[in-house]
Amino acid sequence: MRATDLIRRKRDGGVLSSDDITTFLRGVTDGSIADYQASAMAMAIFFRGMSQDETVAWTMAMRDSGTVMVWDDLDGIPVDKHSTGGVGDKVSLILAPLVAAAGVPVPMISGRGLGHTGGTLDKLESIPGFRTDLSVARFRELVRTLGCGLIGQTAEIAPADKKLYALRDVTATVECIPLIVSSILSKKLAEGIDGLVLDVKWGSGAFMRTLEDAEQLAEALVQVGTGAGKQVVARLTDMNQPLGRMVGNALEVAESLDVLEGGGPADLREMTLELGAEMLVLGGVATALDEARARLGRLLDSGAARERFGQIIEAQHGDPRVLDDRSLLPTAPVRVPVLAESPGVLSGMDCAEVGRAASELGAGRARAEDVIDPAVGLEMHVRVGDAVAVGQPLATLHCVGGAASDAAVARFRSALRWSSSPTAPLPLFGRRISA
Ligand code: URA
Repeated sequence: MRATDLIRRKRDGGVLSSDDITTFLRGVTDGSIADYQASAMAMAIFFRGMSQDETVAWTMAMRDSGTVMVWDDLDGIPVDKHSTGGVGDKVSLILAPLVAAAGVPVPMISGRGLGHTGGTLDKLESIPGFRTDLSVARFRELVRTLGCGLIGQTAEIAPADKKLYALRDVTATVECIPLIVSSILSKKLAEGIDGLVLDVKWGSGAFMRTLEDAEQLAEALVQVGTGAGKQVVARLTDMNQPLGRMVGNALEVAESLDVLEGGGPADLREMTLELGAEMLVLGGVATALDEARARLGRLLDSGAARERFGQIIEAQHGDPRVLDDRSLLPTAPVRVPVLAESPGVLSGMDCAEVGRAASELGAGRARAEDVIDPAVGLEMHVRVGDAVAVGQPLATLHCVGGAASDAAVARFRSALRWSSSPTAPLPLFGRRISA
């Protein structure tokens, strides 16, 4: 079957068999199918969709386009978490050592920040010396011995997705549920995990702006992940304001350490416990979510999870002294307070704009090749529903000063929505979706 015939079949609303999909994606990976044909197929799928069976087949073929890790030498069931991304989302930094300390292996392969969202790799690399470019052999050893390793995407993981995503990005075919689902799951399934907890965010700082779209994505992820033979649970979580108070790489590491010491902002601890409890149940070390939550709370409060994070930092060439001495983390030279200019109730915000304000300071990238400054970012002092008086601090910018910080202040202010009447705080969670 020629690529043209497969594209035509999908264009006309037909169904692709598993063999068709495997053949097509093999051609995408080895270059025998041209970029314009892969793009045309993406557009045909965008308009015609894919059935669940087709999406499972597409996911498996993308997973199998590269290395698929096998964990037959582990003492435990490997489980990971994936978040669809947001502003101030540092949960992975806390969750990975915490869940590992509870006895569930976490082979975590993460990404970098782009646009208004941050990335776990950038946050980790703000710890002096920390390396995320470990060899696969070393990664395996860390997961076996410490229960956790934290590395970046390698060229061997799901190369078909890498190629196709780059084409989707420039052909307006990213916003397509079956393609998003197969893209996310192919990379996670290549980690060789048995269980996956998905944090699907909705809101002004999320990939999915509305709760309805996020629910649709979460349901499809759970169905396709289950169809691929994995245990998958999704939680819908709010991203209409940053998670926790800190936005920016080293600032987020410091805030994660607060949670690992039993403190930190309530929303961040709560999110970590909820997602972590799901991981413990999928990993078979707890039978009920309540029991799992309580256990994770004890591991945070006792310092056991913090100790595990220290071991991981050391094993990944980072300086574990940051645990006791935060001044070893990169620190910005200038702090600029942003004060309320009039009284009011914070009724909402454009959370993506808050992320862009942090990016403008140097915390994030507009393009993949941009260089970030690990020290800068912003610290939020208000949450939706808070009433403020004139002169009350809304945020503190950690920055190098100058024009960029003036622009970031203006952007941050314009992102906030004010009201004169009371506004309820935002819920942290939506539905839980499982098979
Ligand atoms: N994130 C991914 O990894 N893939 C998509 O298609 C969209 C978001």
